[in-house]
Order: sequence, then C-alpha cells, then structure tokens
Amino acid sequence: MSNTFGKDFKIMCFGESHGRCVGAVIDGCPAGLGLTEKDIQEEMDKRKPGQSKIASQRKEEDRVEILSGVFNGFTTGAPICLLVFNKDVKSESYEKIKQGLIRPGHADFTAFMKYGGFNDGRGGGRFSGRITASFVMAGAIAKKLLARLKIDVLAHTVEIGGIKAKKITLDEIKKNVYRVYKNEVRCADLKMAEKMLAQIEKAKKEGDSVGGIIEGIVLNLPVGVGEPIFGTLDGEISKALFAIPGVKGVEFGAGFPSTKLKGSQNNDLFLIKDKKIITKTNHSGGILGGISNGMPLVVRVAIKPTASIAKSQMTVNIKNLKQEKLEIEGRHDPCIVPRAVPVVEAMLAITICDFALSAQLIPRILK
Ligand SMILES: Cc1cc2nc3c(=O)[nH]c(=O)nc-3n(C[C@H](O)[C@H](O)[C@H](O)COP(=O)(O)O)c2cc1C
Repeated sequence: MSNTFGKDFKIMCFGESHGRCVGAVIDGCPAGLGLTEKDIQEEMDKRKPGQSKIASQRKEEDRVEILSGVFNGFTTGAPICLLVFNKDVKSESYEKIKQGLIRPGHADFTAFMKYGGFNDGRGGGRFSGRITASFVMAGAIAKKLLARLKIDVLAHTVEIGGIKAKKITLDEIKKNVYRVYKNEVRCADLKMAEKMLAQIEKAKKEGDSVGGIIEGIVLNLPVGVGEPIFGTLDGEISKALFAIPGVKGVEFGAGFPSTKLKGSQNNDLFLIKDKKIITKTNHSGGILGGISNGMPLVVRVAIKPTASIAKSQMTVNIKNLKQEKLEIEGRHDPCIVPRAVPVVEAMLAITICDFALSAQLIPRILK
C-alpha cells in the first residue's frame, strides 16, 4: 500500500471506515503557524456525513483531535498527528460482503485479491470515502500555509447527473463560493443547484445513484510552480486528485473539448495588464509546460455514480465462486459529488503547499 504523499509537506494517512479512527500525520509543516483544532474543524464540518437528506445518514461528529506537533497554539516543526474517532459504525450492514459478495463498482474484489482476504472490508475499510476525512484534515493546514502567500483554493460542483451549472465568471464564483457550502449540492449556480438536488433525490428513490463534475480553482498562484519533467504541476495535481475514491477523470482548462478546437482558437494570447504578462483567455487552465503561468489554475474532476446502490444486482460470491443477487444495505451517499467538494479543495491545497515548501516560497520558521 502507499499511504504517503508529498516531498516537503508530507502527509501519511491512516484508518479504516469501521476501525477506531481515521487520521493523518503531517511531516514538514514549518514552525510558528498558529493552529487550533477549530481551524481544522471548520474544514472538516464541510465534509462530514449526515448533514443533509442526500448524504450518507452515518452520523459522525468528526471532532478533530491534535495529538502532536502543536504547542501553545503554534506548530513546533515536529510531525502533527490529527485524528477523528469513528463513532457511528454499523458493520452489520456489511454482513453480505463479509460472506463474500463483492459489490459491483467498489473495491471489494480487487482489495480481496490483492490482500488475500486480510483486508478490512467493513464499510469498505481503507477504500471507503471515509478516509478522505484525513485528506481534509491535512488540507486545512495546507490552506492555512497557502493563505500566507495569499493563495486561495476553492471548489464547487458544476454538474450532477447530467444537470450542468450555468457558466459563471471567476468573480461570480469567488462571490458565490461562500454560499456554495450553504446549499446541499455545493453548486455556485443556485438555480441549477435545485435541479441537481432533485436529480439526486430521484436516483435515491429508485435505489440508484448519480455522478458529476467538480471544478477546482487556485487563485494568486505565482508564475513558476511545477517541476518538469516528472514533477509537473498538472501531473502532481492529477496524482493527488486520483487518490480520492470515485474519481474517474481530471482535465485542466479547456480539457478534452480543446481537442475539437483549432490552434488559433485554443491558444491563449499574451497581453500586458498592470505591468504583468497575462493571457486573454485561460484555455490552458493556468499551466504551460507543467509550470504555473500566473493565471487562475482551473481543473475539473469527474466523479462516478456511487457504487453501493439499493437496486438488486448480480455479482459473485468470492468465497464459493457462485453467482448471487446483491441488494446493498447500509448508509450510502446517492451522489458522492457534494461531499467530495472539500476533498478536492484539500488535495489541491496539499499539492500546491508541497511545491511552495520545496521552492522555499514559505519559510521554515513563520513569524
Ligand atoms: C466523500 C466520499 C464518499 C463516498 N461514499 C461512498 C458511499 O457511500 N458508497 C460507495 O459505494 N462509495 C462511496 N465512495 C466511493 C468509493 O469509496 C469508491 O468508489 C471505491 O473505493 C472504489 O474506488 P474507485 O471508484 O476509485 O475505483 C465515496 C467517495 C468519497 C470521496
């Protein structure tokens, strides 16, 4: 298994869905950053389940505890261990999976084969969306460090179940982003948010699920972040985003549709504004040659429909190799997208923070 990410802002994530806890150890955070449990809790509260009728009804308080690396309210430079205890665990819903029924679309089959059946399959174990709580904890610290450079990381839902949010300007997104967490689907277009919500409710009623797309944006990133050739900014961000369970695609700027444009349409023309070189459009999504170009970094993340659905499906019992029907019980998200929005923000912040520390944009001692 590989549970560590980053070179200079290193995170090691641990825990399982129905184990004692989930958490993260962050190694490499500079000394002198003011940090309280409240700072991390604010980010965690955006992700926790049981907050709406379209999210998993698992009721987790997700109260963050800082176990090390902070003294008198400031980071010490030592590893920071953060965790939340799992409280609302109902492993009995996973009885059929324990008996050997592998969920179509989930990691039960591959995990069983890779770890010889020793994997903790309760609630998806290490392959559960629950592990993303540790990403958000580490991301909260990364965001605080990036705020010192005035780098802002945000994310919002742009599509659910085929319902698209209207294209809005960056200024509108920035203005609306604080409302994003006030609607259940985390979409900055409040009108389409209602339609997305209805789409999720419909799928839920049918015992089914839907997927969607999240857009992540990084603002005020200076020119020059990224280490070509094998440590490109887009490459490292993609790796971080693909650690989120359920992610099936990542595209930057104009992305896949840019293949249908001509060079003359796709090229972002250079201009001078306020003595700075900017581009007229941002089809590159703020990255050229694997290096940030100073424009907003724009990335879209495709999330598949939740695998665990109530509808009856045929599968195989891995213990007796017989075909059987499976109806999944348990408390599942009929759409992962809204709860993955803060997770996308966290993974973006962690990756950029790692680059910023490597490039010594952030000092080792903060004053
Ligand atoms: C926040 C979050 C919540 C999730 N909740 C569920 C869930 O309730 N049920 C489910 O089957 N999958 C859920 N997932 C996705 C699975 O963990 C994921 O599909 C599974 O591990 C297989 O990995 P893959 O889809 O990347 O191949 C969730 C993912 C995230 C990020």
